[in-house]
Amino acid sequence: MAKEAFEKLFDKAAIDAKVRKGFPLRHRWHNDFHLEMPFGLVNDPNGLSWFAGKYHIFFQWNPLGVEHRHKCWGHVETEDFVHYRLPALALWPSDMHDKDGCYSGGGFVEDDALRLVYTCNCRDGKKRIPMQRIASWQPEKGIVQKDAIIIEHEPSGYTAHFRDPNRFLKDGREFLVLGAQTVEEKGRAVLYEKKAGAWQLAGEIKTDLPDFGYMWECPTFLPLAEGDVLLFSPQGLEAEEYRWQNLYQSGYIAGKFDADSLEFQHGAFHELDQGFDFYAPQAFLHEGRAILFGWMGMPDLEEEYPTREEGWLFSLTMPRELRLSDGRLFYAPLEEMKALRKGEARKFTAARTVEFGQMIAQKSEIELEILLGDAQQVHIDLAYIGAGEYVRFSYQRRTSVMTIERHGMKCGGRGVRRFRLAVRDSLKLHIYKDKTAIEVFFQDGAEAASFFVFSTQDIVPNFVISADRKLDKIEGSFWELGGFEWNER
Ligand code: FRU
Repeated sequence: MAKEAFEKLFDKAAIDAKVRKGFPLRHRWHNDFHLEMPFGLVNDPNGLSWFAGKYHIFFQWNPLGVEHRHKCWGHVETEDFVHYRLPALALWPSDMHDKDGCYSGGGFVEDDALRLVYTCNCRDGKKRIPMQRIASWQPEKGIVQKDAIIIEHEPSGYTAHFRDPNRFLKDGREFLVLGAQTVEEKGRAVLYEKKAGAWQLAGEIKTDLPDFGYMWECPTFLPLAEGDVLLFSPQGLEAEEYRWQNLYQSGYIAGKFDADSLEFQHGAFHELDQGFDFYAPQAFLHEGRAILFGWMGMPDLEEEYPTREEGWLFSLTMPRELRLSDGRLFYAPLEEMKALRKGEARKFTAARTVEFGQMIAQKSEIELEILLGDAQQVHIDLAYIGAGEYVRFSYQRRTSVMTIERHGMKCGGRGVRRFRLAVRDSLKLHIYKDKTAIEVFFQDGAEAASFFVFSTQDIVPNFVISADRKLDKIEGSFWELGGFEWNER
């Protein structure tokens, strides 16, 4: 395709103007404190970084339709994760290298510039030719300038499923980690190291997971003070009763990585999220915080999302802070999210009861602690009464299993997710309910779950707690939440 043809297809001025017209987002299924676009398909967060006083959030975006095609990078920036500059098109296919998509990658600051690194997707018939390219953010123009191709093809022993470069520093050395597939069709994370100005193949991260899915996507390496963490999204794990229940997974291993031998001594792979709609997250470090965004969505299941008929698909999660303790990550909504609260907390409490209801708002934050007393089973419902649709969190003490159920939903995904959750006497949930996006933190962030609920009714669900025997005590705080503020570019 000639240069002009790309420019016609990805007409930045026209696309940006259409985005401006789309804000504020109007459809009742659109969320107010999750990053979404008025049209097109959003997937992985990309290039997460802090540069020149602002956080930069890029993301995979097809501005031309709701299919996984025409992948570009959209961009927003913010100082506080609540006030944003309107999104705009930042990077798009423009030459033979990335003609079939500007795929995922990371961001980092170098020589006072924000550098980005991404996968150029190029197909020649059935063949893929993945190349990795460095690029730079041009703040004045609000676009990404493409620089050199730094890795021209996959290394030998790997297939063309070789993508999603992300840079990290370890022991003063500079690495790129990429998602890869061996010719035996096993997922891997492969490293390149920058030596004398050039990126050289270092080899794969040696883990205890030689046979763990057929492809690993979107790796992030976090050298935290408490230990090293590798986040990645393996494809091809088979669902089990209490784990790996989504079509594709996202999780982490934590331990100690040796930059000389490339050996990673690590604990078990643990999923980052227990919800229905979470994939391909990315995290970055800034001023001692590890901040993660996930893609709220799932590849290859677009038909489960009714917004497709309305011309848009998917969101990013809220930003989440990661903390490593005893080899496990703990999650918390970013402190800045407190600014979404409208007014003071409304406290609620009840004692010795089997059922309790509390009024909430369309956009709510609920902090809940339940002292279980004699109860063996407790349900926490968001019930769209009348429609017969509800979301139910059920905890069963005997098995230590938390179940999330989307029941009776007439639009969108349904079904059940189950996971183990250690609870003694007190069950804790921290719930963020946006218009259709819900994020829940369990037991002070030991687990989290992100998912959508598309009720047929435009109503605020009833929030009801019930149990099989008397609960000792229910204590909670509820806030009505506002949404993001969007400023002109
Ligand atoms: C993950 C992913 C990445 C790829 C991108 C393309 O969702 O498949 O591996 O770079 O999406 O949009």
